[in-house]
Amino acid sequence: MWLKLGSLLLLVALARANNGTDGSKVLCYYDGSAALREGLGKVIVSDIELALPFCTHLIYGYAGVDAGNGFKLRALDESLDLDSGKGQYRQVTTLKRRNPNLKVLLSVGGYKDLAEEKPFEKYLALLETSGSRTAFVNSAYALLKTYNFDGLDLAWQFPQSKPKRIRGWTGKLWHGFKKLFTGDSVLDPKAEEHREEFVALVRDLKNAFQPENFQLGLTVLPHVNESVFLDVFLLKDNLDYINLAAFDQQTPERNPKEADYTAPIYEPTERVVGNNIDAKVSYWMGKGAPLTKLVVGIPTYGRGWKLVEESGITGVPPLRTDGPSVPGVHSGIPGFYSWAEVCAMLPNPGNANLKGAEQPLRKIGDPTRRFGVYAYRVPDENGEHGMWLSYEDPETAGNKAGYVRAKGLGGISIFDLGNDDYRGVCAGDKFPVLRASKYRL
Ligand SMILES: *[C@@H]1O[C@H](CO)[C@@H](O)[C@H](O)[C@H]1NC(C)=O
Ligand SMILES: *[C@@H]1O[C@H](CO)[C@@H](O)[C@H](O)[C@H]1NC(C)=O
Repeated sequence: MWLKLGSLLLLVALARANNGTDGSKVLCYYDGSAALREGLGKVIVSDIELALPFCTHLIYGYAGVDAGNGFKLRALDESLDLDSGKGQYRQVTTLKRRNPNLKVLLSVGGYKDLAEEKPFEKYLALLETSGSRTAFVNSAYALLKTYNFDGLDLAWQFPQSKPKRIRGWTGKLWHGFKKLFTGDSVLDPKAEEHREEFVALVRDLKNAFQPENFQLGLTVLPHVNESVFLDVFLLKDNLDYINLAAFDQQTPERNPKEADYTAPIYEPTERVVGNNIDAKVSYWMGKGAPLTKLVVGIPTYGRGWKLVEESGITGVPPLRTDGPSVPGVHSGIPGFYSWAEVCAMLPNPGNANLKGAEQPLRKIGDPTRRFGVYAYRVPDENGEHGMWLSYEDPETAGNKAGYVRAKGLGGISIFDLGNDDYRGVCAGDKFPVLRASKYRL
C-alpha cells in the first residue's frame, strides 16, 4: 500500500517536474569537490543525473577569484574542473544534451574560496577599481563561453556579521575557526563604496552577458548583512534571481556554545531578530525586489553540537553545548551530516537496541511547521556521546517550498544535491529532499 502510494506520488512529481509551465525555479547546487571525497561521501557528476528532471538550474560550485592575477575568475581546482584535468565543467554542461531545458550555471565564492587569511578581502578589493571589475567580467565571460555554461551565480564572499549570543552563558572555552567573520564591530569601513561598486560590477556583467543571453544570479550567503552591502533597488533589474541562503543561522563553528534551530521559517521566541527565512524574504520584498525573482535556499544536511552535562536533559533549544559533534563520515566536517547520515541516526528498526555512539537520537517533530525539526541524545554516565542536531528532512523541506508557493515567490534552491540522499538508502527514494520540495512548490 505504502509502496504503491510512493510510486504514485513519484509519477505525479515527475509529471509536474517535466511540466515546465508554472515558471518556478528550482536551483540545484552541486559542489563538484564532492567528487574528490573517499568512500560513501563521494559524489560524481553521473550520480546527480537522476535529480535533473526536478531542477530548472544546475549550479556548479565553486569558482574563485585569482587575486594574484588581476582578479580574474578562475577554477578553484583546475585538475578537477578544466579540460586540461578531469574536465568536470565540461561534464556538467554536457548534461544539457539529455535535459534540454536545464540551465547550467557556474557559481563563484560560496565561502569555498578560502586560500587567504581573510577570504572576503579580495572580493572587496576586486570591486574597487573599474580595471579589476573589467578583468573579472572578461574572464567570467570567457570561462562561461569556453565551457558552454548558461550563466554565473554570484555567491559573493562579503564579510559575515559577527555571531550574536542568545543567552549570556559562560563556561568552557571553545576555540574555533573564525576567519569568515570579522569579529570587528565595524564590518567594513568602506562598506558604502563597496555597495555602489557591487552595483557597477553586476551592471557590467549583465551588459557583457547580454549578447550570449547568459543568466546572472545573486546568492546572498548566510550572515551577509544585505542592508550594508546590497542595494536592492539598483541591483534587482540586472539579476535573473536573488537566492536567499537563509540557513546556517546558527552553526557549531559560529556558535560553539549554543545550539539552536539552523534554518527556521519563522523566528522562535526570544531569538536574534532576523535569523529566519520570513525575515529575509520580508526585507527583500520591502526593498522592492520582485517576488518572482526571490528564491529560498533549502539545505540537505544537518548541523550537530556536542551535548554536555550543563546542557540539561530536555533537548529544548537554545541549549548549552561544547562545540560541534563528531565529524560526519561523508564530509569529514565536525558536526556536519548529509541527509542520508542524519536519517541513519534517527530511530529505525536496525538501530533500536544499539548503545553508545550508535544509539539512535530522539526525534522531535515540528507540528507548527515554523521552526524545523531536531533530534538529540543526552550524554551517557561518562559524559560521552551527547549530541543535538538541527536538520532538514523531506517534510520540513516541503514546508519551505509550501511557504514559497503561498507567498508567490520565484522558487527554491537546494544546497546541495551531493548531500541529499542520492543513493536512496534512507527510504528507497533517491534525492528525497529535492523531490519533496519540488512536489510542494
Ligand atoms: C501541465 O501544465 C498545464 C498547463 O498549465 C496544465 O493544464 C496541466 O494540468 C499540467 N500537467 C500536470 C501533470 O501538472
Ligand atoms: C545590519 O546592518 C544594519 C545597518 O548597519 C544594522 O542596523 C543591523 O543590526 C545589522 N544586522 C546584523 C544582523 O548584524
